[in-house]
Amino acid sequence: MSTPHIAAERGDFAKVVLMPGDSYRARWIAETFLKDAKLVTDTRGIFGYTGYSKNGKKISVMASGMGLPSIGIYCHELFAEYGVETIIRIGTCGAYQKDIKLRDIIIAQGACTNSSWMQAHGLVSGTYSAISSYRVLKDAVDLAEEMHLPYHVGNILSSDTFYEADSTSWKKWASLGVLAVEMEAYALFETAAELHKNALAICTVSDSFLFKEVLAANQRQEGLVAMAELGIAVAERYAD
Ligand code: HPA
Repeated sequence: MSTPHIAAERGDFAKVVLMPGDSYRARWIAETFLKDAKLVTDTRGIFGYTGYSKNGKKISVMASGMGLPSIGIYCHELFAEYGVETIIRIGTCGAYQKDIKLRDIIIAQGACTNSSWMQAHGLVSGTYSAISSYRVLKDAVDLAEEMHLPYHVGNILSSDTFYEADSTSWKKWASLGVLAVEMEAYALFETAAELHKNALAICTVSDSFLFKEVLAANQRQEGLVAMAELGIAVAERYAD
């Protein structure tokens, strides 16, 4: 079988999928953290792998591409056609609050958006508050505690744009307590809710709107490793 954007057989995916934005990061996670990882789809250069964690749990990792429309397509097809029950986005984000440092981990309780996703989708006419699945969120928080990771839990912004004409617009989101910005979680959470599935987003902080500090390559890698390890530990709880 295949869907318009995934060329894999039914059964090729695990019940739980880790979803970074970037295909090369999906490959790195599969090669670094999974045993016997097999490439199950590569349509449009979006790689999906399935393998086993060191504790023998079947886990898939597949890229989402960037932005709400892209993750919306892949998570819909995985949930609706491939029997996937839980998707955990693992990505990067830009921090909006001064107590959040580079490499910290943001566990998204909910996502706001400046996108017209909900209007275009046409399901409801009001403002839908997209939230992560509480059980998965709680597991991620418990595991982040156990693993002694620097983490924050709260609201994030899923933005349609990376480059903004108004360089101060982020401050209004920040004033509402929004922790950080990325570009995918809202569509993932809404799709999971609509299809009665589970979703979470865990993001490592790659940049800050308050500090102009930039991560060295090795520091960036450390943040990614911590996030991937947390993602795998959470995914194991939802795997076969
Ligand atoms: N904006 C949107 N998405 C992001 C950013 C950002 O500054 N940093 C990492 N992902």
